[in-house]
Amino acid sequence: MQRLYFRERDGMAASATRRLYEAFPFPSPGVNRPLIDVVANELPLVVEGGLRDGWSVLDAGCGTGHTMIGLARAYPNVHFVGLEPSNASRGIAQRLAERHGITNVEFADGAMPDAVLERRFEFVYSFGVVHHLPDPKAGLKWLGDHLADHGLLHLWLYNAIGEVQRMRDRELVRLMAADEDSHGLDVVRALGLSLSLDAYGMPGAWAGAALDQDEQDVFDADAYLNPVVHTLRFGDLPELLDGVTDWVAADRVYGPDGAPYLDLSGTGEFAAQGPEVLRPEDLFEDPGLRTRIGGLGNLDRLRAVELVQRPTGFRVLAGRGGSLRRCTRRVAGNLLTGPARGAPLP
Ligand SMILES: C[S@@+](CC[C@H](N)C(=O)[O-])C[C@H]1O[C@@H](n2cnc3c(N)ncnc32)[C@H](O)[C@@H]1O
Repeated sequence: MQRLYFRERDGMAASATRRLYEAFPFPSPGVNRPLIDVVANELPLVVEGGLRDGWSVLDAGCGTGHTMIGLARAYPNVHFVGLEPSNASRGIAQRLAERHGITNVEFADGAMPDAVLERRFEFVYSFGVVHHLPDPKAGLKWLGDHLADHGLLHLWLYNAIGEVQRMRDRELVRLMAADEDSHGLDVVRALGLSLSLDAYGMPGAWAGAALDQDEQDVFDADAYLNPVVHTLRFGDLPELLDGVTDWVAADRVYGPDGAPYLDLSGTGEFAAQGPEVLRPEDLFEDPGLRTRIGGLGNLDRLRAVELVQRPTGFRVLAGRGGSLRRCTRRVAGNLLTGPARGAPLP
């Protein structure tokens, strides 16, 4: 794990992060913007049959809730809790839920790893959050503590290989901004920087609609003004999740060349249904290289994926107890750590 730029002590950094998202609620300050359905639509590629009726789900760092409320609409018999420390973001999320008549959601004020939430959840997800925590391992432990006995944890994280240039740009912005609260976006603009969704495998649009100017500001603030950013590799996860979950598996990479689902065991699952699927062997045409990579273990094959694809983001699944059996065969074939077939479910 690379801690690329870090000048505040943990407590100060956490409050600087909170200030950023008070000023720039992510992903959109727009209560009129459509809900984001991509996660709801993609979930059956990760969890067999998607979320189950009766489950409790935690979105840790739900932001303005466009994704969580999209999920809640798709799964009316699942109960969702959105934890979010930014009052501005949580307020937008609450209004968004009301606007869409969604009642199977509730919101909690607080920040990992200090938030007190005396509940456990069958499914916990945290997208784009853990890498902004001063101590990601403490945040992951907190997430693990809120998993039910056979619960699943789903994470989206920045990848160190594809984020090198943006981390340099971010460091330059923060160097040139007189202090972190004043006119940071002016510096972003003066440097000619503007985050493109293409870099994350979402060419042209976020949730099916181009960003408006307010949203572009939010994405630029998120990209270049964030006080805390860690970038990670698949290889960091076994250590970070050691003692937190019983297994970890790779799911997907995101980058300028697209956002393929990984299929390390060659299950072929979903390949015929259209989503882009990548086997590490597909990285090379040379037969010798294909044979060589086929003989490597999963972590090394993922290193090759990272080094060739240069992803900006990646997604993993992890879980407790028999939860691997709740995942699709593709995910179960992508294990980084844990028992090969997964523990049985009760
Ligand atoms: C990049 S946004 C992602 C929002 C949302 N997960 C999404 O994907 O649209 C990061 C969010 O994490 C929240 N956050 C920051 N620190 C946090 C913490 N310690 N605990 C929980 N959420 C936090 C921020 O307020 C912000 O809403």
